[in-house]
Amino acid sequence: MDIAIVGTGYVGLTTGACIATLGHVVTCIDIDKAKIAGLEQGKLPLYETGLDELVTSERRSGRLRFTADLAAGVRGAGIVFVSVGTPPDLRGDVDLSYVRKAADDIAPHLSKGAVLVLKSTVPAGTARQIKRQISALGRNNPVASNPEFLREGSAVADFFNPDRIVVGADEPAAARSLASLYAPFEKHGVPVVVTSTVDAELAKYASNAFLALKIGFINEVADLCEQTGADVASVAACVGHDKRIGSAFLAPGPGFGGSCFPKDTRAFIATGRRFGANQTLVESLIRSNELRKRKLAGRILDHLARGSVVAVLGTAFKAGTDDMREAAALTIVPLLQQQGVKVKAHDPQCRTVGAKMLPAVSWHDDPYAAVADADAVVVLTEWPDYRTLDWRRIAASMRGRTLFDYRNLLEASAVAAHGLRYIGLGRPVSQPPAAAKNGSASTAGDWHDIAAAPY
Ligand SMILES: NC(=O)c1ccc[n+]([C@@H]2O[C@H](COP(=O)([O-])OP(=O)(O)OC[C@H]3O[C@@H](n4cnc5c(N)ncnc54)[C@H](O)[C@@H]3O)[C@@H](O)[C@H]2O)c1
Repeated sequence: MDIAIVGTGYVGLTTGACIATLGHVVTCIDIDKAKIAGLEQGKLPLYETGLDELVTSERRSGRLRFTADLAAGVRGAGIVFVSVGTPPDLRGDVDLSYVRKAADDIAPHLSKGAVLVLKSTVPAGTARQIKRQISALGRNNPVASNPEFLREGSAVADFFNPDRIVVGADEPAAARSLASLYAPFEKHGVPVVVTSTVDAELAKYASNAFLALKIGFINEVADLCEQTGADVASVAACVGHDKRIGSAFLAPGPGFGGSCFPKDTRAFIATGRRFGANQTLVESLIRSNELRKRKLAGRILDHLARGSVVAVLGTAFKAGTDDMREAAALTIVPLLQQQGVKVKAHDPQCRTVGAKMLPAVSWHDDPYAAVADADAVVVLTEWPDYRTLDWRRIAASMRGRTLFDYRNLLEASAVAAHGLRYIGLGRPVSQPPAAAKNGSASTAGDWHDIAAAPY
């Protein structure tokens, strides 16, 4: 079957390359001509584990094509996916203008019987609105919902190993078409849930809200562990072994970010308000998540004197991606800088995007250069490479002695053995056996006011 994908970002490009491996001819379309020109020359506009190799091999096979010519790309396709952005609007609701525009642009070129499928994350009722929108343009094609559950950083693996595939279809023809596309998965035991479009749309938001609640919950449990002397890793293991709960998303961190959880939880709240079913748990979660970033910035400042230098290791919102949208670094770094702290940073993938988003930071390609002469080091992203850094060398090159591990990535005692004071999340502080160097900065006083300030 010929497939068109309108919107060649994280979701569109990954989905397109992966569907091509199933033997379909896929045309990825984007209004960004520079992006398409780059892709035609084999240059990916984003970093995603394993995607480069997949795009290269599928392009060579002739099954994966790119174009900025929407009409040509859509014509003849049996399924047209829409995977354009759905950013938040000024009220925290969803800006659907990209989806509506894409539908307007696509409608005149839809072949008879082709199914228009919304893969973008959209509020309940959107597929039915788009159905009315294209009907008004004289097109009677079915409009379906096929929400995307992939995670950046493991998007390719997630495509091939999904927990479930959700097909939202109000018309049997749409259900049949998508069921045939996903038949190879069903054959391998992946549940393909066929439901109404509104169920599928709401399921996507409910899933993300629930996962974000797990993160917010374990972050607050970590706070309690710090006060009681418990270790959050052990508590989370005990809790997570319960099959009713599960261990995923039970690791504390500096507050969730990225392109999905923050905007999708806000949109979930907006939908709840619109329909008179307030989502008070999620409202409280968003407050807790914002407060957490401020609180963890305050914790760093509590250990530093004015004019100190902090090295941040990792600025991506999570490992495996160069995405910094709503990353904790975007809140924590400016809060440090506002208090006169100089920030140096390293991230294996975010140097280019980071220099644009955090221009007042001194960026380094080498983590050892970033930490040299720093008063404190803060691990903000769980890149596995940081685990194997030479912490003896790092300790020797630092001016100060404090390491904040806001991902609980490192072996606390091993780091402390090199003379560093290790401060993780929800676990006891590990002190060095003896202060190897002078120079650890004194507590500066009233920085914690930052955490209390309204955001
Ligand atoms: N990124 C994720 O991890 C993820 C996961 C699940 C779902 N989603 C959802 O998928 C959707 C896309 O997210 P993304 O991260 O891939 O966004 P993105 O910003 O990376 O990509 C969107 C692309 O759409 C293009 N575009 C916009 N309007 C267009 C038009 N009219 N015609 C053709 N192209 C157009 C843009 O140029 C851009 O390249 C969003 O609704 C998002 O919430 C994202």
